[in-house]
Amino acid sequence: MTDRTTTHDSPPDLSSRDPDWWRQAVVYQVYPRSFADADGDGLGDIRGITQRLTHLAALGVDALWLSPFYPSELADGGYDVADHRDVDPRLGTLDDFDTMVAEAHRLGLKVIADIVPNHTSRQHRWFEEALRAGPGSPARDRYVFRDGRGQHGELPPTDWQSVFGGSAWRRVPDGQWYLHLFAPEQPDLNWQNEEVRADFRTTLRFWSDRGVDGFRVDVAHALVKDLDEPLRDLGDIGATGEDALLRVPPGSHPYYDRDEVHEVYRDWRKIFDAYTPPRTAVAEAWVPGDRRVLYARPDELGQAFNFEYLRAGWDAGELRQVITESLRTARAAGASATWVLSNHDVVRHTSRLMLPSGTDDNAWLLSDGRAPAVDAAAGLRRARAATLLMLALPGSAYVYQGEELGLPEVADLPTEVLQDPIWEQTGRVRKGRDGCRVPLPWTTGGPSYGFGAGAAWLPQPDDFAAYAVEAQDGVEGSTLELYRSALRLRRKLLQGESLTWAEDVPAGVLRFDRSDGWQCVTNLSDRPVALPAGEVLLCSAPLDDGRLGPDTTVWLGPGLSVG
Ligand code: GLC
Repeated sequence: MTDRTTTHDSPPDLSSRDPDWWRQAVVYQVYPRSFADADGDGLGDIRGITQRLTHLAALGVDALWLSPFYPSELADGGYDVADHRDVDPRLGTLDDFDTMVAEAHRLGLKVIADIVPNHTSRQHRWFEEALRAGPGSPARDRYVFRDGRGQHGELPPTDWQSVFGGSAWRRVPDGQWYLHLFAPEQPDLNWQNEEVRADFRTTLRFWSDRGVDGFRVDVAHALVKDLDEPLRDLGDIGATGEDALLRVPPGSHPYYDRDEVHEVYRDWRKIFDAYTPPRTAVAEAWVPGDRRVLYARPDELGQAFNFEYLRAGWDAGELRQVITESLRTARAAGASATWVLSNHDVVRHTSRLMLPSGTDDNAWLLSDGRAPAVDAAAGLRRARAATLLMLALPGSAYVYQGEELGLPEVADLPTEVLQDPIWEQTGRVRKGRDGCRVPLPWTTGGPSYGFGAGAAWLPQPDDFAAYAVEAQDGVEGSTLELYRSALRLRRKLLQGESLTWAEDVPAGVLRFDRSDGWQCVTNLSDRPVALPAGEVLLCSAPLDDGRLGPDTTVWLGPGLSVG
């Protein structure tokens, strides 16, 4: 495939005022409570992030995205926000935040904040007011309260299901029910209420004025619901979540991916564009690809996470198809493509890519990672190949904290330490996402491997010592050094947002050209293959007798050195 139609064919300028800095940026996701703990209370904090920013600058990323750091009772790891315009006191203060942003900017790093507009915490002052104010009040209209069905209103208003399991409705003492698409502690806002819309405009300006460069928009596809009376049941369509969207005509699901949601983002774009450079945004929208790019249109958010790529198996044909399709849809929408392998919601790719296709991640977690067992060395080898492939693709890459260390999923967390609401809300049948949220190891010793002065809020396994930054820093061949080299080289090599596939490749091999002779070759087969001509710039594993071994990616190129 030759793709030269894009208008973005010049080398990107990643300098601070370039309005397009984000199009091919590498963004590092920080999960604040698990990154670094400066005050030693076991929970990561803002000062901890500031102290470790030099790690990100040395890594060579362009920006950091912070998962929520707002006041929260932590019913859903901080995605239950009690005040969208403040910092959780356990994580610091607004002053700490400002210091962190200033230091990030000084180091040439942009800062992206996670914004959670679909719901609040039940501890948000609006929800407390709504409970006090009673049925029919303006305070209740900021949320989605309804009377129940059944003779005494004892049944939920509709059959809508929570993403975390069970009914999406919870009854309050006066008999009404409120909607929560996630945990009961996360009541959904009513986006048909003008006050809600106005408040989020204020929030976006609040953080933009403090120097935040962009936003990651949580559950971007769920804000606007069909609230026409009577509310309608979804019915048994044989699927839930994103899969349900494939079973109904586009835009007709009662609470996901409704066409009206795009008005919200067109409104936000006016706010983003009032800043220099314009604030950027990326949608978290679990909807099929052709609908997902609508969120990424230039007059909306600009980018949307590419979950097809994250979910693709380790298979050359499947990956090529997803990459081709992702580039096509992004270009059609005027967006830049995005790539992601890991985040705080999924099994880390070092482990996940080793699970045979069709494996249920949850069943694997319930087996404590034993059925099937994953060979850690083989998983790391594959993850490194996957990463070099991802970093060679045109568009923007999102890297999740710890993947630069090659961390595996901590699949055997004892159930008594689990914090994710998914565990309890599913009646203890889904273990949830804690295994990818275990605090980072920075040093090879100490009470929490340098995460903080005390024990970490989730236990770290003993083998984390070997993955610590200290164990890998300056060590040739380490995963940390591989990421550093790759990101340094990528900056030098980046050109337009296009690639050209090579067709004359052995089965199970992917090979494409970017520009100026930069080529990426990945061997996904189980035997070594001949190395095409070209200077080896970087390789995810040592060459096998001059050939490219299984689960290996190489960058070949035009005579640039890593240095
Ligand atoms: C998003 C977040 C996830 C959270 C959910 C509800 O999917 O990534 O962690 O649980 O939204 O806010």
